[in-house]
Amino acid sequence: MNVSEALATRKTVRAFKSDPVSRETIETIVVQAARAPSGGNVQPWKVYALIGPARDELVRRVAEFRNQHPMGTPPEYHIYPPDLTEPYRTRRFRVGEQMYATMAIPREDKASRLKFFSKNWEFFGAPAGLIFTIDRQMQQGQWADLGMLLQSIMLLAREHGLHTCPQEAWAMFHPQIREYLNVPENEMIFCGMGIGVADESAPVNGLVSERAPAGEYLTVRETA
Ligand SMILES: Cc1cc2nc3c(=O)[nH]c(=O)nc-3n(C[C@H](O)[C@H](O)[C@H](O)COP(=O)(O)O)c2cc1C
Repeated sequence: MNVSEALATRKTVRAFKSDPVSRETIETIVVQAARAPSGGNVQPWKVYALIGPARDELVRRVAEFRNQHPMGTPPEYHIYPPDLTEPYRTRRFRVGEQMYATMAIPREDKASRLKFFSKNWEFFGAPAGLIFTIDRQMQQGQWADLGMLLQSIMLLAREHGLHTCPQEAWAMFHPQIREYLNVPENEMIFCGMGIGVADESAPVNGLVSERAPAGEYLTVRETA
């Protein structure tokens, strides 16, 4: 698989098969991905990998907390800007609508939407999950570096026949994650990521998210 194929076939998978992913595979992928560049080679990332019973226990603890607090705790950072403006707002809305349309869940059916959304906290059935943290002193540049690690992991997963789901939703349960994984206070929990074999029979995995035409984000200039 070349880079173009990995990029073209990476997608956010929201239904995984239970087929296990070995510790060796996870370690290989994460260590290879850590060749991602970072400004000043700071390597601002920390990764907590959860497999088997360790993954199940996080899911269990979060489910227990969700009984009382279905939407968890406010994250420690703004997942989206508080007043997302256009065209970003519409893009966000559209992908959500298109995702629920694959499962024929209408906008009014809040209960079914929440039920599906809650699968975030089961890694959408993935047998392995990653939690990414970043030291609180880090600034925008280092957050971008962390993003490059994430994408590198997602592309390498494709090479292993695996798919991924990056998940900021985990940031809504940062106290539970912190306690369970003994994450030091200086680290902020950014997101999680499910990793495993995609269930291609699940309608939600048929979603092909749109991209804006190049004219909306690309400026090329040749003349001085
Ligand atoms: C950092 C990050 C966090 C995300 N968090 C979630 C999440 O919590 N739940 C979810 O279902 N999708 C999540 N997504 C997936 C995005 O919705 C998805 O990448 C986007 O709609 C484009 O679709 P694609 O990944 O299939 O190309 C996240 C993506 C990124 C990059």
